[in-house]
Amino acid sequence: MNRPAHPPRTLAVLVSGTGSNLQAILEASRSGKLPLEPALVVSDRAQAPALDRARQQGVPAFSLERETFPSRSSWESALCEKLDQYRPDLVAMAGFMRVLRAETVQHFAGRLLNIHPSLLPRHPGLHPHRRAIEEGDPEHGATVHLVIPEVDAGPRLARIRVPILPDDTELLLIERTKQAEHRLYPAVLAELASGRLAVTPDTVFWKGARLESPLEFPFS
Ligand code: GAR
Repeated sequence: MNRPAHPPRTLAVLVSGTGSNLQAILEASRSGKLPLEPALVVSDRAQAPALDRARQQGVPAFSLERETFPSRSSWESALCEKLDQYRPDLVAMAGFMRVLRAETVQHFAGRLLNIHPSLLPRHPGLHPHRRAIEEGDPEHGATVHLVIPEVDAGPRLARIRVPILPDDTELLLIERTKQAEHRLYPAVLAELASGRLAVTPDTVFWKGARLESPLEFPFS
């Protein structure tokens, strides 16, 4: 697969909830550390605090609630249409808690990223922090990956590790992992904007060569 023609310049972010990852991305963009223009934010929940974070920074923010559409496919068509209006070079899911149909993933192939709070391929899907503690993992973390129709299984761009401490609860580990995510996602997006990291629908490139295993970012 050929490498993309030029590095991305604009970004859409899909959110469902708190939006702390969105906040980290917006702050990095505003401070100049992330040379990507946030074009719009879309949430599947009208009450998502993430929408307020976007509006406070002057970024167009929209909600498209699945329940207000007659079918999943009509909701996803509206989502594609809204994103297409702004022609973002990248679409980053940041706590977007919906699985998109294969048609929609295909529509954004090579532009659609997700952050998942585990060291993929470990613990895809729900409750990754709880499962890491229950299974006695020595460490946990987060992964940025390309979205493909199979959940949390796309080619991985980068990971960041956090320790699991002896008295950890799920909440403590969620919080520690989020702190790491706030470093990881803007850093990965900045590498994409620089062109050193590049993606096609099925391949990740680092400095011009196919990336075989994800980049590892230091936690502190
Ligand atoms: C983040 O931890 C993100 O990795 C996770 O939801 C949280 C959203 O937090 N995403 C998933 O679990 C997707 N499978 P935020 O709204 O504060 O950014």
